[in-house]
Order: sequence, then structure tokens, then C-alpha cells
Amino acid sequence: MKFLITGGAGFIGSAVVRHIIQNTEHEVLNVDKLTYAGNLESLISVADHPRYHFSQTDICDRAALDQLFSDFQPDVVMHLAAESHVDRSISGPFAFIETNIIGTYQLLEASRSYWGSLAEKGKAAFRFHHISTDEVYGDLEGTTDLFTETTSYSPSSPYSASKASSDHLVRAWNRTYGLPVVVTNCSNNYGPYHFPEKLIPLMILNALQGKALPVYGNGQQIRDWLFVEDHARALYVVATQGVVGETYNIGGHNEKANLDVVHAICQLLEELAPNKPEGIQFYQDLITYVKDRPGHDVRYAIDASKIKAELGWVPEESFETGLRKTVEWYLSNTEWVQHVQSGEYQSWLSTQYQG
Ligand code: NAD
Ligand code: DAU
Repeated sequence: MKFLITGGAGFIGSAVVRHIIQNTEHEVLNVDKLTYAGNLESLISVADHPRYHFSQTDICDRAALDQLFSDFQPDVVMHLAAESHVDRSISGPFAFIETNIIGTYQLLEASRSYWGSLAEKGKAAFRFHHISTDEVYGDLEGTTDLFTETTSYSPSSPYSASKASSDHLVRAWNRTYGLPVVVTNCSNNYGPYHFPEKLIPLMILNALQGKALPVYGNGQQIRDWLFVEDHARALYVVATQGVVGETYNIGGHNEKANLDVVHAICQLLEELAPNKPEGIQFYQDLITYVKDRPGHDVRYAIDASKIKAELGWVPEESFETGLRKTVEWYLSNTEWVQHVQSGEYQSWLSTQYQG
């Protein structure tokens, strides 16, 4: 089968691309604009594989998408390209409207046009898999509820509102035009190749450099953490076995308060990186409480029982094993880290693929 994957140079997309190239016989076309979040150095392990292809393309560019569909003839579209960082959506929402809403619309239309041109067998087999977030459901503050596939939408941030909008578009294209779609909504991912603007990699790298560990508000906000490679496996299962028109929630049953996550990282670093920067006695002394994120959701938690019951997916990593692997990865992949921190990742490999 042929997989057209948008956002394959990002954190989760690159895990999906690596998973498919390394564990299946499928062909992959990675379609990515290479924004600040796109990093081809996360794909070095598969870059030369004959079943892997890359196109630096903006999903808002309909003509370019049409050409890619026509040339590659995908069986499955996995749509991960997005602006993904809540803080950036607060300071600059427009890019989120453009990519997450308009870009999804353009990709849906390109998919619909291509799908309409297929013979009946190809039409029936085609899948458009939209990868979304649990943040569309809003805030579970003050309850013990879990998000299910029927929880109503109540997004809080420009990011989550843009993702909610794209989810609605995808479902409308199924109902109105019959495009065979599946949707997944997942909780917070963590793991290797995570851009260090997000909580876990930021804390690991700041601590190693003796910088402050900025905890928003009181640090009691709860996220439900899933190791990225577990998510990549789940996405492949849904893309290949999910029922058309269905939604699957994906999560790790790992609810943790942010402050506990930061303490766990500090503890692991005490063990794995005991030689601290000068003047630092304990990593946890670097914890600094800072102004809270506006509109900050207090708690997210996913009920992942549907994907387990219907598709047999369960996570392999616990939070403890996954976090240890993650800290170890950042300690032993210093070149990837250095290139991200210096900005070199945007000028090195990306230039190899221009044109
Ligand atoms: P990311 O920010 O790491 O990567 C996004 C990728 O999309 C980058 O490679 C970027 O270059 C590309 N991109 C951005 N705009 C583009 C455009 N206009 N055209 C083509 N490519 C473009 O994001 P991520 O954390 O890997 O998230 C991937 C998807 O999963 C997103 O849709 C996100 O909403 C969703 N999601 C993320 C999480 C999480 O915890 N990170 C959880 C649930 C769902
Ligand atoms: O729930 C899924 C979502 O998880 C995805 O849809 C998003 O793409 C992804 O970025 C993530 O969103 P969050 O806002 O939860 O992730 P972030 O890593 O930015 O923050 C996690 C928590 O940590 C959140 O409560 C804010 C807090 N935080 C974050 C940063 C960057 C801090 O306290 N300090 C920080 O410096």
C-alpha cells in the first residue's frame, strides 16, 4: 500500500514514518512544509530507504497537493501536519487557522478529487485518517470523568479550536461526500525527537544546561501521557483496520500533574546525569513557578477502551519506562539536540531536498 503522510517531519509524524518503513512493506510519501517544527534529521534512519519519499510542500497549496496525489496515487492519507503548540497559538493564532483549518480543507478537497477519480475497488479501499487531539474536548477540571468518543467538543485555546474545526470538516466530508475517513483523538505524547518547546523535552534540556524549569501556575494541571511510539502503532492500526466514519480515542492511562512530571525528570537526571552544571546541587532546585498559561486547561484524561476492544491496541510503555527511555534518548542524541538548539537542523538536511 501507499501512504501519503502529512507532517512526517514532525515529532509524531516522524515516529509514524519510521514505524511504517521499518515494520511494514508499505511505501511512504512524506509531505511536509518544514516549518520550525519539521526536522528531517528525525528521519535519518529511513531517509535513504527506497520505499521512503519526501516532498517539501505546504498543505495549503492545492495545486501542489493535486500533483502529489496524481503522481503518488496513495491508498491511505494520514494527516498529521499542523501547528501544534498551544503557547504559540496564544501569541500568534493565524498560522493555526491557516494550516489547521484551511490546510485541512485543501487536503480534504485534494483527497476528494483524487478519490472521485478512482475505480470502485480503489474508492472503497481508500482511507483519509485525520490525526487530532484530546484538547478538542476541553477541560475536565473538578471531575473524575474521562474523554470518550462521544464527549462534546469544548475547545479552550486557539490551537484546540482550530483542531476542533478541522475535525468537524473531516467528519462533514465523510457525511456529505462519502469520503472514507477515520479520526483519532490522542492525549499528550512524549518521547524521542520531541521539539524542546513542549514540557518534557524543555525540562530535560533546561535542567542539563542549569537553566530554570518554568512551571506554569501551580503545576497541578494534569495531562495523560502516551509514549510516541505507542501512538505511532495505534495510528497505523487505525489507518489500516479502523472502521470508516468512526473515531478512536488514544491514550496511555497515565494521568500526571505537571509538577510530578518535572520532579520525575529531575530524579532520573540525578541518576543518569549526575555531573551537573556548576553551582547546581539538585536539578529540582531549578524549578521556577511562572505566570500561568491564559485559558490553561486543568485536566485531560482519555478513555481508550474503544480502540482496545475493537482494534486490540494497548500501549506497551508505562510512564516510568517511557520517561526513562526519553531521558536516555536526549542524553545520547546530543547531535540532534545541538542542531535543534543552534537552528542548524533547518539549514542542513532540508537543503538536500529542495526542488
Ligand atoms: P509537530 O509540531 O512536531 O509537527 C508538525 C509537522 O507539520 C512539522 O513537521 C511541520 O513542518 C508540519 N507542518 C506544519 N504546517 C504545515 C503545512 N502548512 N504544510 C505541511 N506541513 C506542515 O506536531 P506533532 O506534535 O508531531 O503533532 C502531529 C499531529 O498530532 C498534529 O496534528 C497534532 O495536532 C496532533 N497531536 C499531537 C499531540 C502531541 O502531544 N504532540 C497529541 C495529540 C494529537
Ligand atoms: O493533549 C494533547 C496536546 O498535548 C497536543 O494536542 C498538543 O499538540 C501538544 O502540544 C500537547 O499540548 P499541551 O499544551 O498539553 O503540551 P505542553 O507540552 O505545551 O504543556 C504540557 C503541560 O505543561 C501544560 O499543562 C502546560 C505545562 N507547561 C508547559 C511548558 C512548555 C509548563 O508548566 N511549563 C512549560 O514550560
